[in-house]
Amino acid sequence: MKNLENKIVWITGASSGIGLAVAKLFNERGSVVILSARKKETLEKTQKTLPNPEKSFVLPLDLTKPEQFVMATKQVIDRYNDIDVLVNNGGISQRSLASETPIDIDRAIMEVNYFGHVGLTKAVLPFMHTQKEAYIITISSLSGKFGFFQRSAYAASKHALQGFFESLRLEEEKNNIKVLLAYPGYVNTQISQNALKSDGTVHGDHDQNQANGISPEECAEKILSAMRKNKLEVFPGGREINAAKLKRFAPKTFHKVIKKQKPT
Ligand SMILES: NC(=O)c1ccc[n+]([C@@H]2O[C@H](COP(=O)([O-])OP(=O)(O)OC[C@H]3O[C@@H](n4cnc5c(N)ncnc54)[C@H](OP(=O)(O)O)[C@@H]3O)[C@@H](O)[C@H]2O)c1
Repeated sequence: MKNLENKIVWITGASSGIGLAVAKLFNERGSVVILSARKKETLEKTQKTLPNPEKSFVLPLDLTKPEQFVMATKQVIDRYNDIDVLVNNGGISQRSLASETPIDIDRAIMEVNYFGHVGLTKAVLPFMHTQKEAYIITISSLSGKFGFFQRSAYAASKHALQGFFESLRLEEEKNNIKVLLAYPGYVNTQISQNALKSDGTVHGDHDQNQANGISPEECAEKILSAMRKNKLEVFPGGREINAAKLKRFAPKTFHKVIKKQKPT
């Protein structure tokens, strides 16, 4: 998909961070962007900051409410007739030890980061099947390639995305639906502030790792560039990205390195 002019691009988690930057970039390149997240007011503020706000639509959606997915998809189709790109981005992180985290928190994280994306993708797919070409971009994480301190549920949810969306890629190639998996490292967004602790409240801190991360705009540029080159996966981030290669080719050395890293 080279020409993004007037393409219909639906982005979840579009009110903040990576989702917002991706929405702005598509919109700057002429795409119509559908902005989804839970908070309508924030989305409406976001909409006003777009380069071409007239080419956008606010569609509040909670990824933990699968009963909303079919109706929301119908609203997009009724209005625009197509969904050319779905960006599965909305997500929530974690800052708690596995041993102290009640299973309900694991489930809550899995619901947003895994079942939310899988459910919405399943609602959208029948319409993508009627189109000549479509794209699904799923935002995993470097934690989708290896586990990390205080991220047991988060890392699990991101690993699960890889299994689902790599399988989907194989199945949907014949329908010309392409799947790009993004594995960002540290990106300077609100993700650590919004991360869940073991008691279900939010972490609230802007972690040093995030503060030193790349900008959401740089992350969005790398994702769009990978999409235009038809890549299967992309790793936006700084030096931390090398950890994925180290894990794959030298797992013991990787373990020695990763255990010295700070969780925040
Ligand atoms: N920042 C990083 O370092 C980093 C690294 C790797 C991967 N990622 C991934 O990148 C994605 C975007 O995160 P971000 O860094 O941009 O964080 P962020 O600034 O906290 O943005 C998260 C977005 O997800 C939305 N969201 C949260 N819960 C939701 C729900 N139940 N239903 C619908 N939307 C929901 C939020 O809006 P509402 O609260 O209004 O719903 C917000 O728009 C996430 O999947 C995250 O795991 C981030």
